[in-house]
Amino acid sequence: MLSTTLVLQLLLAISGVTLAAPKPAEYHMFPRVMVRPAHLEVLKIRASTAVNPAAVTETTCLDSFKKIVFHDENVAELSICGGIAGSITKCGGAPASTTGTSGSAQFVLNPVDTGATINISKGRWEQCVRAARAVCPTGSIKATCAGGASTGDVTFTLDNP
Ligand SMILES: *[C@@H]1O[C@H](CO)[C@@H](O)[C@H](O)[C@H]1NC(C)=O
Repeated sequence: MLSTTLVLQLLLAISGVTLAAPKPAEYHMFPRVMVRPAHLEVLKIRASTAVNPAAVTETTCLDSFKKIVFHDENVAELSICGGIAGSITKCGGAPASTTGTSGSAQFVLNPVDTGATINISKGRWEQCVRAARAVCPTGSIKATCAGGASTGDVTFTLDNP
């Protein structure tokens, strides 16, 4: 019987292998002194394994065969609300809706309540996407984040642009 610790070690080992095998274009970045902060933040998103299922109230797997490149997804995730990378801790500007796009990935966010505006915190947003991805590991998604607006919840879709 596998112990929980062993399973965790295996999962960490698998994610370690993934991180240690970057795409050729990224590989050449590591010997350089300058690494873009947004790139480090993308790696942080990927390395995080904690899933809070309560962060998402409803998740629908739309098309599990849609090709959404993981790196694009991570960059698009930080591109909502005009960009929430670096020291930015929440969606600013109280938009009525917002998108985050990079390559093969596009997030579209809308408040559930009519007239509400989006002010989701970065932590809440990352938890919501992670929880939705735990339900639908591949392809396009429609899900509802708990909270994240001036009133009520925020729905999002992740699909090709
Ligand atoms: C979003 O707005 C609501 C209502 O004004 C407020 O209670 C909540 O703290 C805000 N959230 C963030 C992350 O600023």
